[in-house]
Amino acid sequence: MTTAQGSTTATHGEDWSGYGFHTQAVHAGNDIDGGSGAIRTPIVMANSYALPDDPSTMSWSGTESPLYTRNSGTNQLALQEKLATLEHGEAAVALASGVAALHAVFFTHLKSGDHVVVSDVSYEAIHRLFAELLPTKYGIQADFVDTSDLAAVEAAIQPNTRLVHIEAVANPTTKVTDVAAVAELAHRAGALLTVDSTFTPPPSFRPLDHGADLVVHSLTKYINGHGDAMGGAVIGRRELIDPIKHDAMVDVGGVISPFNAWLIARGSVTLPLRLRQSFASAERVAAFLDDDPRVAFVAYPGLASHPQHELAARQFDGGFGGMMAFALDGDPAMQNRFVARLRVITSAVSLGHDESLIVHVGTSGPRVAFYPPEFQRYGHLRFSIGLEDADDLIADLARALDKAVGPR
Ligand SMILES: Cc1ncc(COP(=O)(O)O)c(C=O)c1O
Repeated sequence: MTTAQGSTTATHGEDWSGYGFHTQAVHAGNDIDGGSGAIRTPIVMANSYALPDDPSTMSWSGTESPLYTRNSGTNQLALQEKLATLEHGEAAVALASGVAALHAVFFTHLKSGDHVVVSDVSYEAIHRLFAELLPTKYGIQADFVDTSDLAAVEAAIQPNTRLVHIEAVANPTTKVTDVAAVAELAHRAGALLTVDSTFTPPPSFRPLDHGADLVVHSLTKYINGHGDAMGGAVIGRRELIDPIKHDAMVDVGGVISPFNAWLIARGSVTLPLRLRQSFASAERVAAFLDDDPRVAFVAYPGLASHPQHELAARQFDGGFGGMMAFALDGDPAMQNRFVARLRVITSAVSLGHDESLIVHVGTSGPRVAFYPPEFQRYGHLRFSIGLEDADDLIADLARALDKAVGPR
């Protein structure tokens, strides 16, 4: 890596694209630090980097070498390099949170008068952005569509549709969208396809390989994986990423902190190992819940009863994910009683952490009308399967069911 004044601080930039995923997860974006000789990229908590003797011809909005940490810094550059490699993208931009990354895409690539087709099930902030904030503040119109229904996507596309936005596995219903098919529809209309792949990190899925133009992650979740840092990223072709850096990062400023970038780069080293453990446990836990008559429903793409099970089996590599939603056959008080009895599984928002997390979500709110009938009737428990032993998770659920509902 070269600083603004031209000296080498670290030797990033090695191409790890020809290697296996585990090797990439260890090495991409990391190299020997030129200053100290450390074999791990150190945390560089500096706002500014040394300028050359004559800085008068420099671009003050440059983003490719360390200058000012809102433009780029050592740890941000290292993380971006790693994420681009893992997602098979040409370039990446890391930002302060997943929502900052999603907003950065829409802020940069949409303008007043544009139309967007957006999945009718998506993360809450995205729903509000397209239902309220972008239409009223910027005159960007959106239609909410069941993107697992290709005919509905096609019918919703208008002459001014510039972007189609989906979640590969939707939060919270686990609806799965056929990315290659929607990419074809979007491209036929001259629109970009952006995919929030937070529930399906690489190597389980790489939307860019299936025709998506940009993939977005909340790094806060699986990619960091330890529940101790927030971040977001957008990955794709350089011609689409560079404007996001210039417009949304440098001039709007939702930059990631060096410490968070370092934590996330460190956490991502074990990403494939963590996904294997979480996804394997999730299949066992989903089967356990699905078999229990005290449970009203289980939404998990790995279950044969899931409406897009066959698509999920075809589209994803190495499992059906670590996220599910379910509810007990009872009222909200029963769902709360059950959660209160859990000991191994923690009641808290977020997902993709090392510890299993569960949150009871009720039946009110603007997105619920788009959920399947069972979600509307019972509410749901969104459940992120962590790295604990599957036997302990199942025993915890069984114990809480007995106490909250009574014996099976
Ligand atoms: C699918 C999805 N996308 C984006 C986000 C937002 O990420 P962050 O909390 O890092 O802003 C979340 C958060 O839960 C999410 O589940």
